[in-house]
Amino acid sequence: MIVLGIETSCDETAVAVVSDGRHILSNVVASQIAVHHPYGGVVPELASRKHIEWIIPVFERAIADSGIGLDELGAVAVTSGPGLIGSLLVGLSFAKAFAYARKLPFVGVNHLEGHIGAIFLTPDPPPYPFIALLVSGGHTNLYYVTGPTSLELLGQTRDDAAGEAFDKVAKMLGLGYPGGVVIDRMAREGDPERIRFPRAFLDTGSFDFSFSGLKTAVGRYIKKMGIDRDTDIRHIAAGFQEAVVDVLVKKTIFAAQEKACERIVLVGGVASNSRLRERIRTESEFAGISVYIPDPILCTDNAAMIASVGYHHLLGGERSPLDLDAFSKDRRLRGSEDL
Ligand code: KG4
Ligand code: ZN
Repeated sequence: MIVLGIETSCDETAVAVVSDGRHILSNVVASQIAVHHPYGGVVPELASRKHIEWIIPVFERAIADSGIGLDELGAVAVTSGPGLIGSLLVGLSFAKAFAYARKLPFVGVNHLEGHIGAIFLTPDPPPYPFIALLVSGGHTNLYYVTGPTSLELLGQTRDDAAGEAFDKVAKMLGLGYPGGVVIDRMAREGDPERIRFPRAFLDTGSFDFSFSGLKTAVGRYIKKMGIDRDTDIRHIAAGFQEAVVDVLVKKTIFAAQEKACERIVLVGGVASNSRLRERIRTESEFAGISVYIPDPILCTDNAAMIASVGYHHLLGGERSPLDLDAFSKDRRLRGSEDL
Protein backbone atom coordinates (compact mmCIF):
# COMPACT_ATOMS: atom_id res chain seq x y z
CA MET A 1 0.00 0.00 0.00
CA ILE A 2 1.25 3.50 -0.87
CA VAL A 3 0.73 6.02 1.96
CA LEU A 4 0.82 9.81 1.75
CA GLY A 5 2.48 11.17 4.93
CA ILE A 6 2.01 14.71 6.24
CA GLU A 7 3.94 16.40 9.06
CA THR A 8 3.47 19.99 10.27
CA SER A 9 3.95 19.71 14.04
CA CYS A 10 6.59 22.42 14.40
CA ASP A 11 8.64 24.42 11.89
CA GLU A 12 8.96 21.97 9.00
CA THR A 13 6.28 21.59 6.32
CA ALA A 14 6.79 18.01 5.17
CA VAL A 15 5.01 15.64 2.78
CA ALA A 16 6.21 12.17 1.72
CA VAL A 17 5.07 9.17 -0.29
CA VAL A 18 6.08 5.79 1.14
CA SER A 19 5.36 2.30 -0.15
CA ASP A 20 4.60 -0.54 2.32
CA GLY A 21 5.99 1.46 5.24
CA ARG A 22 9.53 0.76 3.98
CA HIS A 23 10.34 2.35 0.63
CA ILE A 24 10.52 6.11 0.28
CA LEU A 25 9.19 7.27 -3.10
CA SER A 26 9.51 10.93 -2.17
CA ASN A 27 10.33 12.90 1.00
CA VAL A 28 9.98 16.69 0.76
CA VAL A 29 10.84 18.89 3.76
CA ALA A 30 10.45 22.68 3.59
CA SER A 31 12.30 24.11 6.57
CA GLN A 32 11.20 27.40 8.14
CA ILE A 33 14.58 28.01 9.82
CA ALA A 34 15.13 31.26 7.88
CA VAL A 35 11.67 32.52 8.98
CA HIS A 36 12.30 31.97 12.71
CA HIS A 37 16.06 32.68 12.78
CA PRO A 38 15.74 36.44 13.49
CA TYR A 39 13.63 35.67 16.59
CA GLY A 40 16.02 33.09 18.10
CA GLY A 41 13.33 30.40 18.26
CA VAL A 42 10.11 29.17 16.66
CA VAL A 43 7.30 31.77 16.64
CA PRO A 44 4.10 29.64 16.66
CA GLU A 45 1.91 32.15 14.79
CA LEU A 46 4.47 32.57 12.01
CA ALA A 47 4.89 28.78 11.82
CA SER A 48 1.14 28.21 11.21
CA ARG A 49 1.03 30.91 8.55
CA LYS A 50 4.01 29.42 6.69
CA HIS A 51 2.47 25.93 6.84
CA ILE A 52 -0.70 27.32 5.22
CA GLU A 53 1.37 28.95 2.48
CA TRP A 54 3.57 25.91 1.83
CA ILE A 55 1.42 22.81 2.38
CA ILE A 56 0.00 22.66 -1.16
CA PRO A 57 3.27 23.37 -3.06
CA VAL A 58 5.11 20.85 -0.83
CA PHE A 59 2.38 18.26 -1.45
CA GLU A 60 2.55 18.87 -5.24
CA ARG A 61 6.31 18.50 -5.19
CA ALA A 62 6.09 15.24 -3.17
CA ILE A 63 3.64 13.75 -5.66
CA ALA A 64 5.75 14.87 -8.65
CA ASP A 65 8.96 13.47 -7.08
CA SER A 66 7.31 10.14 -6.27
CA GLY A 67 6.46 9.47 -9.93
CA ILE A 68 3.05 8.03 -9.00
CA GLY A 69 -0.44 9.20 -9.93
CA LEU A 70 -2.93 10.35 -7.26
CA ASP A 71 -5.06 7.25 -7.84
CA GLU A 72 -2.19 5.02 -6.73
CA LEU A 73 -2.35 6.42 -3.18
CA GLY A 74 -3.95 3.94 -0.77
CA ALA A 75 -4.20 6.02 2.42
CA VAL A 76 -3.22 9.23 4.23
CA ALA A 77 -1.26 9.43 7.51
CA VAL A 78 -0.81 12.71 9.36
CA THR A 79 0.81 13.88 12.61
CA SER A 80 -1.97 14.73 15.08
CA GLY A 81 0.35 15.61 18.00
CA PRO A 82 2.27 16.39 20.10
CA GLY A 83 3.34 19.75 18.70
CA LEU A 84 2.18 23.33 18.16
CA ILE A 85 -1.62 23.24 17.84
CA GLY A 86 -1.87 25.91 15.13
CA SER A 87 0.79 24.14 13.07
CA LEU A 88 -0.67 20.66 13.55
CA LEU A 89 -4.11 21.85 12.46
CA VAL A 90 -2.81 22.88 9.03
CA GLY A 91 -1.49 19.39 8.20
CA LEU A 92 -4.46 17.71 9.84
CA SER A 93 -7.04 19.79 7.94
CA PHE A 94 -5.24 19.22 4.65
CA ALA A 95 -5.04 15.46 5.30
CA LYS A 96 -8.73 15.22 6.19
CA ALA A 97 -9.85 17.22 3.17
CA PHE A 98 -7.64 15.22 0.82
CA ALA A 99 -8.71 11.87 2.27
CA TYR A 100 -12.37 12.84 2.13
CA ALA A 101 -12.16 14.12 -1.45
CA ARG A 102 -10.27 11.04 -2.67
CA LYS A 103 -12.30 8.60 -0.51
CA LEU A 104 -9.11 7.31 1.16
CA PRO A 105 -8.72 5.94 4.69
CA PHE A 106 -6.82 8.29 6.97
CA VAL A 107 -5.04 7.86 10.28
CA GLY A 108 -3.55 10.25 12.86
CA VAL A 109 0.00 9.43 14.00
CA ASN A 110 1.84 10.36 17.20
CA HIS A 111 4.91 12.42 16.24
CA LEU A 112 7.15 10.65 18.79
CA GLU A 113 6.12 7.24 17.50
CA GLY A 114 6.95 8.64 14.06
CA HIS A 115 10.53 9.50 15.07
CA ILE A 116 11.05 5.90 16.23
CA GLY A 117 9.45 4.60 13.03
CA ALA A 118 12.18 6.39 11.03
CA ILE A 119 14.47 3.43 11.75
CA PHE A 120 12.26 1.20 9.56
CA LEU A 121 13.06 3.36 6.56
CA THR A 122 16.75 2.40 6.78
CA PRO A 123 18.18 -0.51 4.73
CA ASP A 124 18.89 -2.65 7.80
CA PRO A 125 16.21 -2.07 10.47
CA PRO A 126 16.42 -3.86 13.85
CA PRO A 127 14.12 -6.68 14.95
CA TYR A 128 12.06 -6.14 18.13
CA PRO A 129 12.60 -5.59 21.01
CA PHE A 130 14.93 -2.62 21.24
CA ILE A 131 15.70 0.36 23.46
CA ALA A 132 14.95 3.67 21.73
CA LEU A 133 16.42 7.01 22.74
CA LEU A 134 14.34 9.82 21.25
CA VAL A 135 16.23 13.10 21.52
CA SER A 136 14.66 16.14 19.86
CA GLY A 137 13.97 19.82 20.46
CA GLY A 138 10.91 18.98 22.54
CA HIS A 139 11.63 15.54 24.02
CA THR A 140 14.26 13.36 25.64
CA ASN A 141 12.52 10.01 26.07
CA LEU A 142 13.86 6.53 26.67
CA TYR A 143 11.59 3.66 25.54
CA TYR A 144 11.54 -0.11 25.57
CA VAL A 145 9.92 -0.96 22.24
CA THR A 146 8.38 -4.41 21.70
CA GLY A 147 6.25 -3.84 18.57
CA PRO A 148 5.29 -1.25 15.93
CA THR A 149 2.84 0.41 18.29
CA SER A 150 3.98 -0.92 21.71
CA LEU A 151 6.26 1.40 23.62
CA GLU A 152 7.12 1.42 27.31
CA LEU A 153 8.35 4.82 28.50
CA LEU A 154 11.28 4.18 30.84
CA GLY A 155 12.39 7.75 31.46
CA GLN A 156 12.11 11.32 30.22
CA THR A 157 13.49 14.76 30.91
CA ARG A 158 12.23 16.53 34.00
CA ASP A 159 12.94 19.97 32.53
CA ASP A 160 14.62 20.93 29.25
CA ALA A 161 14.86 18.52 26.32
CA ALA A 162 18.38 17.78 25.06
CA GLY A 163 17.82 19.72 21.80
CA GLU A 164 16.37 22.64 23.75
CA ALA A 165 19.54 22.73 25.88
CA PHE A 166 21.68 22.76 22.72
CA ASP A 167 19.59 25.64 21.33
CA LYS A 168 19.69 27.67 24.57
CA VAL A 169 23.45 27.24 25.07
CA ALA A 170 24.03 28.19 21.42
CA LYS A 171 22.06 31.36 22.06
CA MET A 172 24.21 32.16 25.13
CA LEU A 173 27.30 31.70 22.98
CA GLY A 174 25.86 33.97 20.29
CA LEU A 175 25.73 31.16 17.73
CA GLY A 176 22.16 31.75 16.50
CA TYR A 177 19.16 29.44 16.05
CA PRO A 178 18.84 26.46 15.78
CA GLY A 179 22.02 25.85 17.70
CA GLY A 180 22.53 22.08 17.83
CA VAL A 181 24.23 21.75 14.51
CA VAL A 182 26.50 24.80 15.15
CA ILE A 183 27.58 23.53 18.58
CA ASP A 184 28.29 20.14 16.99
CA ARG A 185 30.59 21.86 14.45
CA MET A 186 32.34 24.20 16.93
CA ALA A 187 32.86 21.38 19.44
CA ARG A 188 34.97 19.43 16.92
CA GLU A 189 37.72 22.01 17.39
CA GLY A 190 37.38 22.27 21.18
CA ASP A 191 38.70 20.13 24.03
CA PRO A 192 35.82 18.18 25.66
CA GLU A 193 37.82 17.69 28.87
CA ARG A 194 39.03 21.27 29.42
CA ILE A 195 35.84 22.47 31.16
CA ARG A 196 33.86 19.88 33.10
CA PHE A 197 30.17 20.76 33.37
CA PRO A 198 27.77 18.84 35.70
CA ARG A 199 26.04 15.59 34.69
CA ALA A 200 22.57 15.21 36.29
CA PHE A 201 21.14 11.93 37.68
CA LEU A 202 24.06 9.89 36.40
CA ASP A 203 24.51 7.84 39.53
CA THR A 204 20.94 7.50 40.73
CA GLY A 205 19.84 4.49 38.69
CA SER A 206 16.97 6.60 37.34
CA PHE A 207 16.21 6.73 33.62
CA ASP A 208 15.08 10.35 33.88
CA PHE A 209 17.13 13.23 32.50
CA SER A 210 17.66 16.85 33.49
CA PHE A 211 19.50 19.46 31.45
CA SER A 212 18.47 22.77 32.99
CA GLY A 213 21.23 22.65 35.67
CA LEU A 214 23.80 22.09 32.96
CA LYS A 215 22.44 25.02 30.95
CA THR A 216 22.64 27.24 34.07
CA ALA A 217 26.20 26.06 34.76
CA VAL A 218 27.25 27.05 31.24
CA GLY A 219 25.58 30.46 31.72
CA ARG A 220 27.42 30.98 35.03
CA TYR A 221 30.73 29.96 33.48
CA ILE A 222 30.30 32.43 30.62
CA LYS A 223 29.41 35.22 33.05
CA LYS A 224 32.38 34.52 35.32
CA MET A 225 35.08 33.74 32.78
CA GLY A 226 33.77 35.65 29.77
CA ILE A 227 34.36 34.72 26.15
CA ASP A 228 37.57 36.44 25.14
CA ARG A 229 38.65 34.39 22.19
CA ASP A 230 37.06 32.20 19.55
CA THR A 231 38.73 29.18 21.12
CA ASP A 232 36.80 29.80 24.38
CA ILE A 233 33.53 29.18 22.49
CA ARG A 234 34.93 25.93 21.06
CA HIS A 235 35.99 24.63 24.48
CA ILE A 236 32.66 25.61 26.09
CA ALA A 237 30.73 23.98 23.22
CA ALA A 238 32.83 20.81 23.49
CA GLY A 239 32.53 20.65 27.30
CA PHE A 240 28.76 21.21 27.19
CA GLN A 241 28.21 18.69 24.40
CA GLU A 242 30.31 16.10 26.21
CA ALA A 243 28.19 16.47 29.37
CA VAL A 244 24.94 15.94 27.39
CA VAL A 245 26.36 13.03 25.40
CA ASP A 246 27.82 11.38 28.51
CA VAL A 247 24.41 11.22 30.22
CA LEU A 248 22.53 10.15 27.07
CA VAL A 249 24.98 7.36 26.22
CA LYS A 250 25.38 5.96 29.74
CA LYS A 251 21.66 5.92 30.55
CA THR A 252 20.72 4.34 27.23
CA ILE A 253 23.27 1.54 27.60
CA PHE A 254 22.21 1.08 31.22
CA ALA A 255 18.57 0.73 30.08
CA ALA A 256 19.59 -1.90 27.50
CA GLN A 257 21.46 -3.85 30.16
CA GLU A 258 18.56 -3.63 32.66
CA LYS A 259 16.15 -4.94 30.02
CA ALA A 260 18.69 -7.52 28.78
CA CYS A 261 18.18 -6.02 25.31
CA GLU A 262 20.91 -6.18 22.66
CA ARG A 263 19.73 -3.38 20.41
CA ILE A 264 19.65 0.40 20.73
CA VAL A 265 17.91 2.78 18.31
CA LEU A 266 18.80 6.47 18.31
CA VAL A 267 16.29 8.90 16.76
CA GLY A 268 15.18 12.58 16.80
CA GLY A 269 16.98 15.75 15.70
CA VAL A 270 19.81 15.42 18.26
CA ALA A 271 20.54 11.91 16.91
CA SER A 272 22.28 13.70 14.05
CA ASN A 273 24.91 14.96 16.55
CA SER A 274 28.26 13.57 15.42
CA ARG A 275 29.72 13.10 18.92
CA LEU A 276 26.60 11.29 20.16
CA ARG A 277 26.61 8.98 17.13
CA GLU A 278 30.30 8.23 17.58
CA ARG A 279 30.21 7.60 21.35
CA ILE A 280 27.05 5.51 21.44
CA ARG A 281 28.51 3.30 18.69
CA THR A 282 31.87 2.72 20.42
CA GLU A 283 30.50 2.26 23.91
CA SER A 284 27.66 -0.03 22.81
CA GLU A 285 30.05 -2.16 20.82
CA PHE A 286 32.14 -2.54 23.95
CA ALA A 287 29.00 -3.67 25.83
CA GLY A 288 28.00 -6.13 23.07
CA ILE A 289 24.99 -4.05 21.96
CA SER A 290 24.13 -3.19 18.32
CA VAL A 291 23.26 0.41 17.47
CA TYR A 292 20.86 1.58 14.76
CA ILE A 293 20.72 5.24 13.71
CA PRO A 294 18.89 6.67 10.66
CA ASP A 295 20.63 9.11 8.30
CA PRO A 296 20.44 12.70 9.61
CA ILE A 297 17.64 13.59 7.12
CA LEU A 298 15.43 10.94 8.76
CA CYS A 299 16.45 12.02 12.31
CA THR A 300 15.02 15.54 12.01
CA ASP A 301 11.31 16.13 11.34
CA ASN A 302 10.03 14.58 8.11
CA ALA A 303 6.82 13.02 6.78
CA ALA A 304 8.27 9.70 5.57
CA MET A 305 8.47 8.52 9.19
CA ILE A 306 4.79 9.47 9.67
CA ALA A 307 3.75 7.53 6.53
CA SER A 308 5.73 4.50 7.75
CA VAL A 309 4.11 4.39 11.19
CA GLY A 310 0.69 5.21 9.69
CA TYR A 311 1.05 2.18 7.41
CA HIS A 312 1.40 -0.15 10.43
CA HIS A 313 -1.66 1.34 12.13
CA LEU A 314 -3.67 1.04 8.91
CA LEU A 315 -2.50 -2.55 8.47
CA GLY A 316 -3.90 -3.29 11.95
CA GLY A 317 -7.28 -1.97 10.75
CA GLU A 318 -7.06 1.40 12.47
CA ARG A 319 -8.87 4.39 10.94
CA SER A 320 -9.26 7.90 12.38
CA PRO A 321 -12.57 9.76 12.26
CA LEU A 322 -12.81 12.94 10.21
CA ASP A 323 -13.34 14.92 13.43
CA LEU A 324 -9.95 13.81 14.82
CA ASP A 325 -8.44 16.65 16.87
CA ALA A 326 -4.83 17.80 17.24
CA PHE A 327 -3.15 17.58 20.69
CA SER A 328 -0.22 19.57 22.03
CA LYS A 329 1.26 17.29 24.72
CA ASP A 330 2.07 13.58 24.68
CA ARG A 331 -0.78 11.85 26.48
CA ARG A 332 1.15 8.70 27.26
CA LEU A 333 1.73 7.98 30.94
CA ARG A 334 4.92 6.48 32.24
CA GLY A 335 5.10 2.73 31.84
CA SER A 336 3.54 0.57 29.20
CA GLU A 337 0.60 1.74 27.19
CA ASP A 338 -0.28 0.83 23.64
CA LEU A 339 -1.02 3.84 21.51
O1 KG4 B 1 13.41 16.23 15.87
P1 KG4 B 1 13.62 17.66 15.53
O2 KG4 B 1 13.94 18.01 14.10
O3 KG4 B 1 12.39 18.52 15.91
C1 KG4 B 1 11.63 18.28 17.08
O4 KG4 B 1 10.71 17.41 17.02
O5 KG4 B 1 11.98 18.93 18.09
O6 KG4 B 1 14.78 18.18 16.50
C2 KG4 B 1 15.26 19.51 16.47
C3 KG4 B 1 16.35 19.66 17.51
C4 KG4 B 1 16.81 21.11 17.69
O7 KG4 B 1 16.84 21.41 19.06
C5 KG4 B 1 18.22 21.09 17.09
O8 KG4 B 1 19.10 22.05 17.69
C6 KG4 B 1 18.67 19.68 17.39
O9 KG4 B 1 17.52 18.89 17.13
N1 KG4 B 1 19.78 19.25 16.51
C7 KG4 B 1 21.01 18.95 16.96
C8 KG4 B 1 21.79 18.65 15.81
N2 KG4 B 1 21.00 18.77 14.70
C9 KG4 B 1 19.77 19.13 15.15
N3 KG4 B 1 21.50 18.91 18.20
C10 KG4 B 1 22.79 18.57 18.34
N4 KG4 B 1 23.62 18.28 17.31
C11 KG4 B 1 23.17 18.30 16.03
N5 KG4 B 1 23.99 18.00 15.01
ZN1 ZN C 1 10.38 15.91 15.95
